Amino acid sequence: MDAKAPHARKNDLDRFRLRNFIEDLIDTDQLDIRDEAVDLADVAAILQGNDKAVWFRNIGGEGVELTGNVVGGRARLARAFGVPSDQLRQELERRLKLKAEFIELTRETAPVQEVVITGDDIDVTKLPVHLQHGADGAPYISATIDYTIDPETGLTNSGLRRLMLRGPKETGIDLIAPSDLRAIYLKASARGENLPVSFVLGAHPIDMVSATMREPGDELGLVSRLRAAPLPTVKCITNDIRVPADAEYVIEGYLDSAGHVEKEGPYGEYLGYYGVVKKNPVFHITAITHRRDPLFQTATISGSRMDFTDTSNLEALRAELNAWMALKSVVREPVAVYAPVSAGGSMCIRFSMRQRFPGEARSALYTILGSVGPKNAFAVDPDIDIFNDKQMEWAFATRFQPDRDLVIATGVRAVPLDPSLLGAPSGSRAGYDLTWPLDHVNRWDLKIPAPPTYTGKRYDSLEAALRDGPQRFEDLMAALGSRDGREIVRDLYKLRSQGLERDDQGRYFLKC
Ligand SMILES: Cc1cc2nc3c(=O)[nH]c(=O)nc-3n(C[C@H](O)[C@H](O)[C@H](O)COP(=O)(O)O)c2cc1C
Repeated sequence: MDAKAPHARKNDLDRFRLRNFIEDLIDTDQLDIRDEAVDLADVAAILQGNDKAVWFRNIGGEGVELTGNVVGGRARLARAFGVPSDQLRQELERRLKLKAEFIELTRETAPVQEVVITGDDIDVTKLPVHLQHGADGAPYISATIDYTIDPETGLTNSGLRRLMLRGPKETGIDLIAPSDLRAIYLKASARGENLPVSFVLGAHPIDMVSATMREPGDELGLVSRLRAAPLPTVKCITNDIRVPADAEYVIEGYLDSAGHVEKEGPYGEYLGYYGVVKKNPVFHITAITHRRDPLFQTATISGSRMDFTDTSNLEALRAELNAWMALKSVVREPVAVYAPVSAGGSMCIRFSMRQRFPGEARSALYTILGSVGPKNAFAVDPDIDIFNDKQMEWAFATRFQPDRDLVIATGVRAVPLDPSLLGAPSGSRAGYDLTWPLDHVNRWDLKIPAPPTYTGKRYDSLEAALRDGPQRFEDLMAALGSRDGREIVRDLYKLRSQGLERDDQGRYFLKC
């Protein structure tokens, strides 16, 4: 399904509201509404493998509302940006060139601070947080976007990070993978300082896309640029961080300076397996603020249908954008790039390109493998539709010679959560060159056979056509306007005695 333009609703504080994005899905085939009372215990099973966004309107009989799988499909991501699905990357590129603008709101005017909970009233276990996977260590808040001010630069950093419930006022956080937040936290912790962090929960899909990106500069500004609109912000109640004022919830607090000391996990991870128990920092909650009618959000991460998870779809978009940027640096005519969501979004990249120089595809493969980091990358000529698994299977079967077309990089950085590493600290990557060598690209026999189109030149007679040069059978039918073809076989038979010949491509011509 392609997008319709984002609704210009009431005022700007509602335009990027998650609840409105979900309500606008009601008339589409993208939303699964659950009006019946659903226990938190059953939420995971309803979300697992569901190709729609789900809106639970009565969680646990408390009447609390929860939505999940919001961006677990490209059609919904495209809808958020108001473009067709196949224009999503291009639209992101366009918006990244825009300038950030802000509208600073006060506590009185910021929707996300309509309700403020501080002190002894704070209890994160009152929020509708469910157990996502059978072996998870506890229920996780999973759709949380963190905003932090880097004390060294004064710039705001943002990412998506899950929080494991540990009690009314504290959670675990996963800060193992290299990230800007991890680096900022490690420095603060080394100085013996707590690091203030505010987690936004219940955000517009665009804000989630923004959080997955690692851009130099201020990442609050990135939200505005990707929205292509001024961003309403408000300062948090218990720290100086500014957050989008139109979110559903904010959980304010700080990461304990004590470091990676507390057990966090296990957790069903974004490659479709469990992440084990790790030592991680603790997050202490100092305030919870929310709208008067808040919509809680959960993100799908793991399971057997990676193509329907929020994480995979977000990761894939980021991977495609990064891969496209890298491709443009080495290839004159990149055509398309695709990160299959079923591979976790970032583990595999397919790209098509028009070759101009020998070795161009190979160089592109090395660049993609080196700079972006998927484990497998596939290069094809433009006649292959990289979004079509069947065409890719066929190209792999017929255009690839393992001893000639496989490039392997060893001892390189790997995704630690990739279980095939079997614990190794680094891994390997492979590039599959499915393009034809440049001197074979235009071979007539390597064109994909297609039904005849009869668009050749018209002639007065078969003989005139044959005297003009070699002709394929299709050309001869076009030459005479034939709608049958069998009469041409008979006439060609008669012309044998007059010097009819065929060249190496099977084309007919008259020798004299
Ligand atoms: C739904 C979702 C959940 C994520 N959870 C985590 C997490 O818990 N820990 C982590 O290190 N990265 C997580 N990531 C990846 C980071 O959000 C991502 O790498 C981000 O760009 C890091 O931002 P930063 O480098 O600016 O800090 C998650 C990504 C998604 C899409």
